[in-house]
Amino acid sequence: MTGRPDGGAGKLWSGRFDEPVGETVKRYTASVAFDRRLALHDIRGSLAHARMLAHRGILGAGDLAAIEEGLARIGSEIESGTFVWSVDDEDVHLNIEKRLTALIGDAGKRLHTGRSRNDQVATDLRLWVRETIDAIDAGLRRFQSSLLDLAQPHVETAMPGFTHLQVAQPVTFAHHLLAYVEMASRDRERFSQCRARANRLPLGAAALAGTSYPIDREFVARELGFEGLCENSLDAVSDRDFAIEFAGACALVMVHLSRLSEELILWMNPCVGFIDLADRFCTGSSIMPQKKNPDVPELARGKTGRVIGHLVALLTLMKAQPLAYNKDNQEDKEPLFDAADTVTDTLTVFCELVGGIRVKPDAMRAALAQGYATATDLADYLVKRGLPFRDAHEAVARAVRHAQEQGCGLAALPLDDLRSFSPLVETDVYDVLTIEGSLASRNHRGGTAPEQVRAAIERARASL
Ligand code: ARG
Repeated sequence: MTGRPDGGAGKLWSGRFDEPVGETVKRYTASVAFDRRLALHDIRGSLAHARMLAHRGILGAGDLAAIEEGLARIGSEIESGTFVWSVDDEDVHLNIEKRLTALIGDAGKRLHTGRSRNDQVATDLRLWVRETIDAIDAGLRRFQSSLLDLAQPHVETAMPGFTHLQVAQPVTFAHHLLAYVEMASRDRERFSQCRARANRLPLGAAALAGTSYPIDREFVARELGFEGLCENSLDAVSDRDFAIEFAGACALVMVHLSRLSEELILWMNPCVGFIDLADRFCTGSSIMPQKKNPDVPELARGKTGRVIGHLVALLTLMKAQPLAYNKDNQEDKEPLFDAADTVTDTLTVFCELVGGIRVKPDAMRAALAQGYATATDLADYLVKRGLPFRDAHEAVARAVRHAQEQGCGLAALPLDDLRSFSPLVETDVYDVLTIEGSLASRNHRGGTAPEQVRAAIERARASL
């Protein structure tokens, strides 16, 4: 290779160039620092490709054996950390190919027959997304199960349900937690749908137009466990919509976790005091000795912005790219990897965090007592006795005002006081003014009645 313009460094594409790539440019265009994370997927893809080439008689049996042996060796070098990565070889694909050729000679140079880095990287990335989705799904399942464990003993624990962050109606704590179990179910559904669309094979598209070799794409798809083929070669090498969908699903998981974070932060504020977070998830202040700060949920809330940013970065990356492959796409990896890592780590820490929550039912009940949370129940009581809802609403509003003036709850008003707002009130009114009566009356699927919540927990557990 001496006498070559790249000074013999042997860049795998350098034949047509008069001068070597500049140092700055080399560093600017290289991706090996981050795409080496795809190394094992790259090897899997190469093995499948080589086996197909041999199966179609494009590669000799001896060459295939050498490639298999060489790639296995490279795999162990990478796993044991002895593989030497070089920025001179730009990316993960060229690093591995260069090493393969160093190990096995010409057979290594034959591996790239009928293939391009364009369909190669698209394949690697789809394999990575598929595997990562499976790991995130397991994390979401563990998160759901830790929520269910926390909910189980609190099927009858009453707390204020809020709208506009004002006390609205009583709900059970378990019911509130189950809302997050539902969100996580939809997150899992989203990932699984994204997985189905990502699980198709780009290899065979080569650079953009396909290849003139008699390849067998179905063979490669079977080897790699892809459920189908990318049906258009231009689309196969250029679109990253599967990665964008993946980042979108990650962003939504984080948005859900961020909402829970916000509630945990609120609930553990001493002014509210509904829960306590275990000390191991909090930090103190270097100046204020009384402080116990909910760092973990705050950080999760903060990291949500970062993952949303990755989604926007990927959308913007794809926008206005002409067909087919453009180097822009090399920029897809860092946002994608970071989105996945952030979601994975946040789910892991949240499983532990939820397990360390101490619930304070007395504080929840005290908050309920202050909020006239059964006012709607009183209105419904009057409606069931024939009063139109709007009139009932008005009568109860006046009763609430009266109770406020007396400095007590609705249930503490004497019968005569209550009757002064509507003659329809009888002694049985006190049944609906209690928290328990209010909860028990919402007795339909999706409602907060303890009986329903118990059934919902069972259904959720069965579906995990
Ligand atoms: N490192 C590149 C990427 O991540 C691989 C594909 C390069 N293809 C090319 N024609 N330069 O997208």
